[in-house]
Amino acid sequence: MRKKIIAGNWKMNKTVSEAQNLADAIKRDLDSEAKVDVVLCPPFTAISAVSQAVSGTQIAVGAQNMHFEASGAYTGEISAEMLREQYCRYVILGHSERRQYFGETDESVNQKTKAALAAGLKPIVCVGETLEEREADKYQDVIRTQINGGLAGLSEADFKNLVVAYEPVWAIGTGKTASPEQAQEVHAFIRSLLVELSSQAIADTVRIQYGGSMKPANAAELLSKPDIDGGLIGGAALDAPSFIGIVKAAIEA
Ligand code: 13P
Repeated sequence: MRKKIIAGNWKMNKTVSEAQNLADAIKRDLDSEAKVDVVLCPPFTAISAVSQAVSGTQIAVGAQNMHFEASGAYTGEISAEMLREQYCRYVILGHSERRQYFGETDESVNQKTKAALAAGLKPIVCVGETLEEREADKYQDVIRTQINGGLAGLSEADFKNLVVAYEPVWAIGTGKTASPEQAQEVHAFIRSLLVELSSQAIADTVRIQYGGSMKPANAAELLSKPDIDGGLIGGAALDAPSFIGIVKAAIEA
């Protein structure tokens, strides 16, 4: 049985004080919940405050990106070690917004994934097709390329610390959710790709999150599917009651 994992990707939202308020509100309701892994991923500037707010609870903190080098002349970038120092345990890598707006490629996702794992962070590696790719029935090819490129060269131990997020680009922030059946089909496909890269036994331990307009109203049905092991939540993670509603759906799933 894979433990479900619900992560909030706050994207470029929340000042430090707003982030603190949101983390406090989530903590108040979820403090003692250990049945599901809960991760908050604020912007870099609020990581320290959110880490402090949730310290001593089961809630973990993650970042939304990092650089693959340990240090050096990379203006504007943040290393894995810097995230660890702020008590991050997870890092989202290869989000479609990073691919679309910031030139992220499968190669850089692979470098970052390896660097994160080497530094003791758990990467949440995002994959997903655009609407055009889905309509042209190319989504499996796109996802195969992203998985094989992003996860190339990982060891068995690495796979045990990996989380994959399937986020169809057409469902992000659009209010359009993949149907539970559509999502399950892709999640099972992703798991079959993980089997090719590792083994059935290892692939069975990797958690695959769904992301794209997940909310309390649709979470339970998505999370009831056998290969949907959690959610990567954008908009609904910015509001404590709706994020908590999704976590509660995961606890009951
Ligand atoms: P929404 O939940 O706002 O669709 O965003 C999903 C997402 O991109 C999470 O990383």
